[in-house]
Parts: sequence; C-alpha cells; structure tokens
Amino acid sequence: MKRFNKILLLAVSLIFVFAGTTLFATGTQEQKSAAKAEPANANVQHVVLNNNTPSDKLEIFSWWAGDEGPALQALIKVFEKHYPDVNVINATVTGGAGVNAKAVLKTRMLGGAPPDSFQVHAGQELIGTWVIANRMVDLTPLFKQQGWMKVFPKDLLNLIGTKDGIWSVPVNVHRSNVMWYVPDNLKKWGVSVPQSWDEFFNIADKLQAQGVTPLALAQAWTVKHLWESVALGVLGPDDYEALWNGTLSWTDPKVVKVWQTMDKILKYTNKDAASLSWQQATDMVVKGKAAFNIMGDWASGYMSTTLKLTPKKDYGWAPSPGTKGNFIFLADSFGLPVGAKNPDATVAWLKTCGSKEGQDAFNPLKGSISARTDSDLSLYNVYSKSAAKDWASNRIVGSLTHGVVANEGFMNDFSSVIEMFLNNRNPQQAANACQAIAIQNGIGK
Ligand code: GAL
Repeated sequence: MKRFNKILLLAVSLIFVFAGTTLFATGTQEQKSAAKAEPANANVQHVVLNNNTPSDKLEIFSWWAGDEGPALQALIKVFEKHYPDVNVINATVTGGAGVNAKAVLKTRMLGGAPPDSFQVHAGQELIGTWVIANRMVDLTPLFKQQGWMKVFPKDLLNLIGTKDGIWSVPVNVHRSNVMWYVPDNLKKWGVSVPQSWDEFFNIADKLQAQGVTPLALAQAWTVKHLWESVALGVLGPDDYEALWNGTLSWTDPKVVKVWQTMDKILKYTNKDAASLSWQQATDMVVKGKAAFNIMGDWASGYMSTTLKLTPKKDYGWAPSPGTKGNFIFLADSFGLPVGAKNPDATVAWLKTCGSKEGQDAFNPLKGSISARTDSDLSLYNVYSKSAAKDWASNRIVGSLTHGVVANEGFMNDFSSVIEMFLNNRNPQQAANACQAIAIQNGIGK
C-alpha cells in the first residue's frame, strides 16, 4: 500500500510538473498556424449543451472590483433575471490589468480548483497560456447554437479560436491608445492636444512652468500600457506588428528610439507614480493637477459611471500622440475551464456574456463597446460612439499589456524589463533584454 501511495504521488507530481511547464509554455500566432497542420487534439473537451435549468452556484472570477465593478454588476443582473435559481459568487481580486488576479488564478488553475468562469483577454493570454495547456473547454457548439459565428467579427473569432475549437466569449472591445484631458484646463494653460511626441515635449515644458504635471502615470503596469502607445506612435502600425511576428528585431535602432522616447516622456510624469492606481492617475487629470493621461477607455467608464462626468464637456480624448487612424484593441472574455464545478450555470453565464442584452447592459457603463456587430449604439455615450466609429474604420492592432499579441511568459518578462528600465533608464539595455525575452518566449516563431 505504501509503495502504491509512493507511485501515486510520483505520478501526481509528474502531472503537475508537466502542467507547470506546458501551462506557461509559449505560443505565438505563427506557432498556432503551424499547429493547424497537425491532427485534431484528442485531449479537447467540448461543451455539453442540455436543457437543464441551472440552479447551483456560479463563481465568476475577475479583477473588476470596487470602481471597476458597476458594469460587471449590470451584467450579473441580466444573468439573474434569466436564471434566478443560481447563486452568483462574484469573486474579484482588485488591481488594474489583473496584476494580482492573474497570480491568484494561476495558483487556482495549477491547484485544480478553477473558478467556474474567469476574465481573460482574447488573444495570446487565452490561447498561448490556458488553451495550449488544455485547460479550457471548447465552446464551438455554443457559438453555433447562439448564432455567434455571424455576430462576432471574424478577426475576433480568430483570436479566440484555434483549429481545435473556440475558447472564450468576448464581452467587449476596449481601446488602449487614448489620451485623456480636461478641455477647459488645456484652454486655461494655453496648450492644445499634442499630435506627436515632439509636440508633447514642447507643450510639456509650458505646462511644467505653470506647475502642472504634463502626463499622469500610475503603478508599473501603466508604464507598460504607455509603452505600447509610444511604440505604435514611434514605429507606426507595420513595424509595431513586425515586433510580434518576429520580422523586426528588438535591437533595431527604430525600437531603441521607442525606449529613448519613453525616457524623455518619463521626465514629465509625477514622481509618486509607483504608489498610484490607474484611477488615481485619472483623478490627477480630473482635478487639474496633470494635463494628460494615457489609459484604456475603461478610464471613460470610470469618469462617466463612477465620477459622473460628461464626456466632451468634462473630459476630452484623442488618439495617443502619433497614433491617429490606429486603434490598439483588446477584448475581455470569459470561458469554461476544464474541471469547473458548475458547467450548466457557466454555460448560462456565457450565454449572457455573448448576448446583445448582456453586452448592451455591460458596455455603456464600462467605457468599452460591444464585441457584437449588432449592438444598439443609441445606448452609448458620445465617447463610446466615437470609439465604435474608429473601431469600424481605423487600422486595428493588438495590445501587449492586455493580452492580445504575446503570451503570459513574454508579458511577465516584459514587466521585469520595464522595472529595470525605470531603475536604470538605459534604452539600449532594455532593447537587448527584450530581444532575449522575445527569443526565450518564442515571439515570432
Ligand atoms: C484591462 C481590462 C479592462 C480593465 C483594465 C483596468 O486589462 O481588459 O477591462 O479592467 O484592465 O483594470
């Protein structure tokens, strides 16, 4: 018996070692297409659709806590209207961009205790992390049953699917490259919205002379967020995308210039950034302590839903410098992890997430637009209407910070590069480090 236990223990440990290595193994777009030639994956579990009325529990895991909560609560309300017998557990771990939630999720997934459904970004955060490790259930039958193959844009379906299935339901489309400001304050300070970083540097000196912080910044992930806007502004969309498909080296002088520009920009930011949340950086702009902030359009949700400000009048927006006509996008989504305790309730939740009713209750409060092509735009404010217009007409590229273009392995390593750069401000060293982590995590392979 003792011997049997030992063997069992060894087998279990091996499974965990295997899980640990494959879970954060790398997977790029190219690897995915190469994988397309391979035979279907026998490990795939497919969602089971039935007519049961769910009446059990449903644990939804996300980082939409506190100020970020109202939109999720509206979505849960729609769910509860249709499924009153389910007891919803709204499990949140606070921290912008999921900086804390993702670590908790990783522990739970590796420990075999997944939530029933969790927030995950469409793209490599989903595919290159959880799908590649066989941790998600294929939702293709649900997409077909609900007619979602026709209402979600093809490019978005490609980001949540592989040859083996469709792995999550997108609830929104957010824009990352937005610069926020208060129109009356800019007038008072005698400056206008910068169209390029060079213009920003001219304006910034003028602002500093008046005791105003030119650009409000918060904790480290918002520096990473800023980085993708600067990269797109300096490189343009073709070279930005070339970074992710491996055709532009991270040590190319053009990419070193991104870091040099970052260095210059950081001189015009607040010294207490590391101790602020993204909402507090937004507050600096709202209260007239800072002129600009670059943040995803959840900042519009925060300003209109939580602070009750009116877009256009109380706050204005523009594409971040040098990115006009380009839209860095990301999409939050929910899926069904393998081993979820309440699959029937989860399927009901996913139906709500993908529904027009659910999306048009959630997104007007969130600052995002619906991921569906048939949403009712009359329910959205003037900011979101302009985002919807840009989403339909701009060049679309994917976000790094919010999971579209690179897997978790690269994202985590990139965070370390950002920390290093904040300490030593050495552009060449940051570029070299990025080249190393890109190779290590299979970016562009
Ligand atoms: C993003 C997420 C947004 C918003 C933001 C700030 O990663 O996609 O919905 O929550 O973080 O926390």
